[in-house]
Amino acid sequence: MAVILNGETVLSNIVASQIKSHQRFGGVVPEVASRHHVEQITLCLEEALAEAEVTPDQLQAVAVTYGPGLVGALLIGLSAAKAFAWAHGLPLIPVNHMAGHIYAARLVQPLEFPLMALLVSGGHTELVYMAEDGSYEIIGETRDDAAGEAYDKVGRVLGLPYPSGKELDQLAHQGKDVYDFPRAMLKEDNLDFSFSGLKSAFINLVHNAEQRGEELDTADLAASFQASVVEVLVTKTIRACQAYPVKQLVIAGGVAANQGLRKGMEQALAAELPDVKLVIPPLKLCGDNAAMIGAAAHVELAKQHVAAMDLNAIPSLAFQHI
Ligand code: KG4
Ligand code: ZN
Repeated sequence: MAVILNGETVLSNIVASQIKSHQRFGGVVPEVASRHHVEQITLCLEEALAEAEVTPDQLQAVAVTYGPGLVGALLIGLSAAKAFAWAHGLPLIPVNHMAGHIYAARLVQPLEFPLMALLVSGGHTELVYMAEDGSYEIIGETRDDAAGEAYDKVGRVLGLPYPSGKELDQLAHQGKDVYDFPRAMLKEDNLDFSFSGLKSAFINLVHNAEQRGEELDTADLAASFQASVVEVLVTKTIRACQAYPVKQLVIAGGVAANQGLRKGMEQALAAELPDVKLVIPPLKLCGDNAAMIGAAAHVELAKQHVAAMDLNAIPSLAFQHI
């Protein structure tokens, strides 16, 4: 829950982390996520208003995400937002969760169009071309696993707690790229990704070593895995930026927190496309948060894109629906 001024200044941004409950199960259990939302949502709302030092009558609109995501969690957010909007006579602004991830960058600096966004999270890996505010064209995406999903599955094999992206990232910096994992679809003439082959190669290597009683170096495994992910993401993103007339490159979503990806993209962009500006939100705005939804809502509000009270959750909401 967050309070945003003019779509660009964060007055408060309260995140109720569910990581502890999900760690017990090694992943997100939808029913657990929903229960957590019900328990936290009212507290978060009160905290967000208190921290921003605003009262409901000072607000202009209520933004809410209606997809993509888990239906139970989306419905709880929608119900709370509708009730609050109705009680205070405020317009309800529908926001796509992935658009929110991109607009997190607007909380750092103004967006300049046309821009390219690399969206990398636990559920998505896609390249989105934006000709202008509120316009989204997916020009490349993963054909199987999302990048964050690959991090979490590989981390599980190494016995790391869920989600394991951050820890693998830290381990990677202590090791070397010695295992020569595949770089999927690099040579193909498209902007799509694939991470399931890399995941399988990693898991097979670890299992075969276990059967032979061999010890593998965990830091080297992490470094080799990360080198493959980063090389593929960077190469395809640079290609996308060369194919479209972009002024900025935004990296968004939980995996945008990855230090290897940040460094790799910075270097490649400086070498290949020095005129394209790289915008990566700070760590706390990369993962799921409400401030980014408020930032994206500003654009929708300007277009008078207001939802009726029968707005429903769309778990598989795509950009085309906007
Ligand atoms: O966007 P997000 O918070 O949630 C959604 O999936 O919508 O992204 C979470 C994902 C998880 O898979 C997590 O392992 C990954 O982001 N992640 C990272 C890092 N920090 C979080 N992956 C790689 N390196 C990181 N530093
Ligand atoms: Zn997300």
